[in-house]
Amino acid sequence: MGFTYRNERLFAEELDCEAIAEEYGTPCYVYSRAAMEAALAQYHQALKGCEYLVCYAVKANSNIAVLDTLARCGAGFDIVSVGELERVLAAGGDPGKVVFSGVVKRPDEMRRALQVGIRCFNVESAAELEVLQSVAAELNVRAPVSVRVNPDVDAGTHPYISTGLRENKFGVATDAAMALLRRATTMENIHITGLDCHIGSQLVDMSPLLDALQQLLLMVDALQAEGIHIRHLDLGGGIGVRYRDEEPPAVADYIAAVREALGDRDLGLVFEPGRSIVANAGVLLTRVHYLKETDAHSFALVDAAMNDFIRPALYQAWVDIQATSPNDAEPRLWNIVGPVCETGDFLGKDRELALASGTLLAIHGAGAYGFVMSSNYNTRPRAAEVMIDGNKPYLIRERETIGDLLRGEHRLPQ
Ligand code: LLP
Repeated sequence: MGFTYRNERLFAEELDCEAIAEEYGTPCYVYSRAAMEAALAQYHQALKGCEYLVCYAVKANSNIAVLDTLARCGAGFDIVSVGELERVLAAGGDPGKVVFSGVVKRPDEMRRALQVGIRCFNVESAAELEVLQSVAAELNVRAPVSVRVNPDVDAGTHPYISTGLRENKFGVATDAAMALLRRATTMENIHITGLDCHIGSQLVDMSPLLDALQQLLLMVDALQAEGIHIRHLDLGGGIGVRYRDEEPPAVADYIAAVREALGDRDLGLVFEPGRSIVANAGVLLTRVHYLKETDAHSFALVDAAMNDFIRPALYQAWVDIQATSPNDAEPRLWNIVGPVCETGDFLGKDRELALASGTLLAIHGAGAYGFVMSSNYNTRPRAAEVMIDGNKPYLIRERETIGDLLRGEHRLPQ
């Protein structure tokens, strides 16, 4: 689904990637509409019969065409800034299906979210709850709140994307969360609706997720005994994908395990998947410009860099890199590196590939945390984004121009 090789040529749905690169240039992100729809459908399928909401984590890929596609398939959204909220609204998403996560929500962000009527604030500290109470009081509304619990479990993922350990900045430890919830019930403009957690990303083992769930359930039961009724549990995102040979849990298995753990409790479920919806629905196309041999390495110098796709440089993430069509060169080991002036600017190391100058490469698994993490470092305009729907390509983001980059900068007066 989405990206397939036909006679050794890479196709995005019905279109040859070489033709896409010809038309839109490189580097260029290419997404498959069908692939993202299918990934979301797995969640819907597994949750049939429950009261639930799948809130796609906007941060994973926030292009408004992506949000529009998912909104049309019934997705809600997990946002972490008012900017993401405006994207959801611009994409036609329903604010009533939005949950707002993040450790620093400014009062103006809270105000806007309350005005458009979001589903829930995932509150991450006592101080934040106080500010939300006062913003909601100003507007004379009640803010729906879920408290983000930090369950202190080791998600077993890269330390930079592990979020559920006591030492992390996220959420509130269980004891403190209980106290916070009690306090919240006394606040006039706060309405407690749920508990949530998100323990990390690219999880390939579901046991930490289920451990965290058990802790939330203990809290739900204890709160119930105190007369505080929790309506929903939001288990965050985190399900990993296969980039190489990882074996992440199937969404269906994970959700079946969650449903079983709930027993007969009357709880709605919210999930905030990002990566598992879009990672494998996107590739980054980049062209080899030069080949360069040194005593130590063979370098393929390509036109995408760490500013376009930072995951290898930042997390030493391994992503699959393949030529999009065959050529006659002898396969050998290459370091695939970009134009940015940093030794950390690599996309892949020691990859066995048949390359020539002009070869088009596809970086697979680039649909999540790809374009959204790109920057203008080295004054490099950000890449174009194209969505493929069957045999039709849609330019969903124009390539930036140098003019775009200089806009808003000013010289000093003479
Ligand atoms: N909910 C919350 C509160 C989150 O912080 C995140 C991701 C998600 C949901 C979505 O998690 P997912 O289903 O995508 O794992 N840039 C990193 C990943 C950072 C994830 C941050 N939080 C990477 O490229 O690996």
